[in-house]
Amino acid sequence: MSDKKASNQMWGGRFASGPAAIMEAINASISFDRKLYAQDIRGSIAHSEMLAQTGIISAADQEKIAHGLNTILAEIEAGSFEFSTRLEDIHMNVEARLAELIGAAAGRLHTARSRNDQVAVDLRLWVKDECFRVAEALKGLIAAFLERAEEHAATVMPGFTHMQAAQPVTFGHHCMAYVEMFSRDLSRVRDAIERMDQSPLGAAALAGTSFPIDRHQTAKALGFREPMRNSLDSVSDRDFAMEFLGLAAICATHLSRLAEEIIIWSTPQFGFVRLSDSFSTGSSIMPQKKNPDAAELVRGKTGRVTGHLVGLLTVMKGMPLTYGKDMQEDKESVFDAAETLDLMLAAMTGMVRDMTVNAAAMKKAAGAGYSTATDLADWLVRTLGLPFREAHHVTGRAVALAEEKKLGLDRLPLEDLQSIHPGITADVFSVLAVQNSVKSRTSFGGTAPSEVRKQIRYWKKHIAKA
Ligand code: ARG
Repeated sequence: MSDKKASNQMWGGRFASGPAAIMEAINASISFDRKLYAQDIRGSIAHSEMLAQTGIISAADQEKIAHGLNTILAEIEAGSFEFSTRLEDIHMNVEARLAELIGAAAGRLHTARSRNDQVAVDLRLWVKDECFRVAEALKGLIAAFLERAEEHAATVMPGFTHMQAAQPVTFGHHCMAYVEMFSRDLSRVRDAIERMDQSPLGAAALAGTSFPIDRHQTAKALGFREPMRNSLDSVSDRDFAMEFLGLAAICATHLSRLAEEIIIWSTPQFGFVRLSDSFSTGSSIMPQKKNPDAAELVRGKTGRVTGHLVGLLTVMKGMPLTYGKDMQEDKESVFDAAETLDLMLAAMTGMVRDMTVNAAAMKKAAGAGYSTATDLADWLVRTLGLPFREAHHVTGRAVALAEEKKLGLDRLPLEDLQSIHPGITADVFSVLAVQNSVKSRTSFGGTAPSEVRKQIRYWKKHIAKA
């Protein structure tokens, strides 16, 4: 008796009413799975139509069921539906209300079905819809980048490795690098849609059913390509959710890299871009400041999306076939990652469209740090026939001399260059200016404005078809 009292105290004040309240609190998912209401009702209507067509329930009952479900849909959308935690989840909340509305016929809806295949089909429908939203948002971001790239196909900026200015590139080329990244994200979304386009409905609890159901019919009615082939896999598979989180985490990582660049570029030290007031904030104490909050939040929110991926992978790891209640933990990760990613994509598209590019600052920085040293080495190879290793060595000495004289490479007097290698002629200056350096990189995928324009044309054509 004293033991019992002690353990009750340990459960704490929130659960004063004992184990039943704790069970309800840990078991209920209605606070978050209510988000699936539309998919749940759609799935139930398709299921009931199939039950009627196969003669498992009567047409009259099916009509009542469909009418009741549509009433519930309207109630939920109007905000008048009363969700109950006692009824655990969206499936039981809807079914209980259906019984209130239409009476006994409601009890026939769950024939040849289980909440296991029901929840699997609901979440798949939701994730598939979200994938289409992400695809549209990605297309919007890519379109924004294509516009900026076109505008800045010939705008010179430093290209970096190790965060050190390496060789001059164009801002258009840099934008097109992101187009490549986000197009890969888009193709990952498409691949994922393709794989998740199968219906688990009709797997019932796990083993299928003895009723003469038609899984092809429900699959088609719900817009799936076909039913899943194995009933055990149907109720235990959450690959579609993991894949969505995987592609979301990769996409968020790309957005975070871009956010980081925007943050660096918008510092007064770089001054490459200026964010408009709509995507930055001032400081309450330092009047000179303009903070890139939206970019910082994109960078920060990436942690959340990746966290959700790791969260679900960890939930699924070690799950024996088939369904286990652990899998109820799939939804919050998916919902929050989706909401977060949608917002990140929208904010980033806004920033890309909105930022002002300071071409003069970019050009100045492009010329700093002996960024055309490789061009000098290439010139020595091309014009004087030097082996590249020797040309590299000669160039190193030219850079050292320029550094000593505090001059840019293109400002070093010809005699100085000739003192390092007598074969050098005035022609070398044609490659030492950043604009010429950039123009000369015409290899496939290179930074020459002519190449960048080719890349833009390629993507305009292919994105249009996407
Ligand atoms: N709320 C549950 C979930 O999200 C629905 C499936 C429950 N199935 C069961 N056999 N208890 O996973």
